[in-house]
Amino acid sequence: MQQLAYIIASVLFIIGLKRLGSAATAKQGNLISAVGMGLALLATLIFETNLSWPLILAGIVVGGAIGGIAAKRVAMTGMPEMVALFNGSGGIASVFVGWASAKPDMSLAESIPLYLAVLIGGVTFTGSVVAYLKLSEKIDGKPVMFKGQQPVNIALLALILLCGALFCMSPSGFGDPWLIIAILLSFAFGVMVVIPIGGADMPVVIALLNSYSGLAACAAGFIISNTVLIVAGALVGASGIILTGIMCKAMNRSLSNVLFSGFGSATTSSGGADVQGEAKPISADDTYYILEAASSVIFVPGYGMAVAQAQHAVKELGALLEENGCEVQFAIHPVAGRMPGHMNVLLAEADVPYEQLVEPDDVNPNMAAADVAIVIGANDVVNPAARTDETSPLWGMPIINVDMAKTCIVLKRSLRPGYAGVENPLFFCENTRMLLGDAKASVQALVSQFKEG
Ligand code: TAP
Repeated sequence: MQQLAYIIASVLFIIGLKRLGSAATAKQGNLISAVGMGLALLATLIFETNLSWPLILAGIVVGGAIGGIAAKRVAMTGMPEMVALFNGSGGIASVFVGWASAKPDMSLAESIPLYLAVLIGGVTFTGSVVAYLKLSEKIDGKPVMFKGQQPVNIALLALILLCGALFCMSPSGFGDPWLIIAILLSFAFGVMVVIPIGGADMPVVIALLNSYSGLAACAAGFIISNTVLIVAGALVGASGIILTGIMCKAMNRSLSNVLFSGFGSATTSSGGADVQGEAKPISADDTYYILEAASSVIFVPGYGMAVAQAQHAVKELGALLEENGCEVQFAIHPVAGRMPGHMNVLLAEADVPYEQLVEPDDVNPNMAAADVAIVIGANDVVNPAARTDETSPLWGMPIINVDMAKTCIVLKRSLRPGYAGVENPLFFCENTRMLLGDAKASVQALVSQFKEG
C-alpha cells in the first residue's frame, strides 16, 4: 500500500510539473503536485514504524507555520528570495537525513549516497543562504573576488573528496570525524562558490541550487530507501537544471560565464561604448495622442512594472486600445523582471488574455510594422547595445527590438540603468520618447485620457 501510494504521488508530481508548463494550467499543476506531496507524507506517516510523533507534530506545526506565513507575506518581487530559502531548507534537511543515518560498518552502496547527500545538501544550504542575502540586499550583491580564489576552491573541493573517501571506506557512524569535517567543508564550499557571483545572476544560481537540492534529496532517498523521495528529488534535479539552461540561453551566456566571470562587479557599465545623446521627454497628453492614432501597439513590461504594480492599469490601457480598434500584444522577455515567468505571473494576475502574450522570437520580425512599442519599466531586455555594441556587457543577449518600432515610448522614472548596470542607448534614439515617472501613475494618466477623450 505504501509503495502504491508513492507511485500515485510520483505520477501526480509528474502531471503537476507538466501542467506548470503553461500559465493557463499552472495553478492546477501546483495543486496537483501539492496533493501528491500530501499523499506521500500521509503514506509515510501511516506506514512507517518507530516514528516519534511529538517531534513530527512539532515539525509540522513549526515548519508549516513558518512556511505558510512567509508565503502569504512575501511580495511577488520577493519570490526568488523565498525560493532561495526553500532550497536551503531542502539542502539542510538532506544533510540531517544523511548525517542521522550514518552507522558503523555501512557498505559502500550505503555510505556513498550518504556522503553525496551531506555534501550536496551542505553546499546547497550555505549557497542558498548567501544567494538569499545577496538578492534581498542584506549583503552587498557585488561579486566578491580575490586573488587565488580558484586554487582555494579547488583545494577545498579536494579536501572534501578526501574526507569523503576516508569516511566511505570505513564509516564509524554518526560521530565519524571525516563525515563531520566533510559537512563543515561543504558549508564553506557553498559560500565560496556563490560569493563570486553578482546579484543580477542570483536567479540563475537559485535555479541551479534548486537542482542541487533535488539531487541531495534524491541521494537522501537512496539512504532511507524511500522511492518517492528519489523520484521527487530526480524531478527537482532535472527541472532545475533545465530552467538554469533556459535562463542562461535567454541571457546568451554560458553557465560557466554566470558562475565564474564575476558579471556585474561594477554598478555601472563596466564596458561598452559611451552612450550619449539627448533623451526626448514626452507628456502623458502627447503620448495619448500617439496611442490614440496607433493601429498596433506592443507592450514590453519589465521589472519596473512589478515595482510599480502597474499590471492592472496596463491591462486596462490594453483593453481601451483594443476598443479603439488597435491590435495589442504583450512581448514577454524570458528574463524580464527578477524571476522566471515574473511578467507572465503579473499579467495573469491582471487577467491579460494569454493569446496576447508573445515571445521575442515571434514579435521581433514584426516590430518594424508596429506603430508603437511601449516599454513599461523594462531596461536591459530592450537595450539595443546587446545587438550593436560588441564591447557591451550585454552583447549577444537576445532582446526585444523596440528601437525598430515606428515610435518607442519608454516609461520609467529616470535615465538610470537597469539591473545589469549598463547604459541604454535606446533612450537617445530618434524615435524614442521618455515618459518619465512611476509606471503606474503614467499608465493611469493615459487610461484617464482615453476615458475622457
Ligand atoms: P531592468 O533592466 O532591471 O530595469 C528595470 C527598470 O525599471 C529600471 O531601469 C528602473 O528605472 C525601472 N523602474 C523601477 N521602478 C519603477 C517604477 N516604479 N516605475 C517605472 N519604472 C521603474 O529590468 P528588465 O528590463 O526587466 O531586465 C531584467 C534584468 O534582470 C536583466 O538584466 C536580467 O538579465 C536580470 N535577470 C533576470 C532574471 C529573471 S529570471 N527574470 C534572472 C537573472 C537576471 P528607473 O529607476 O529609472 O525608474
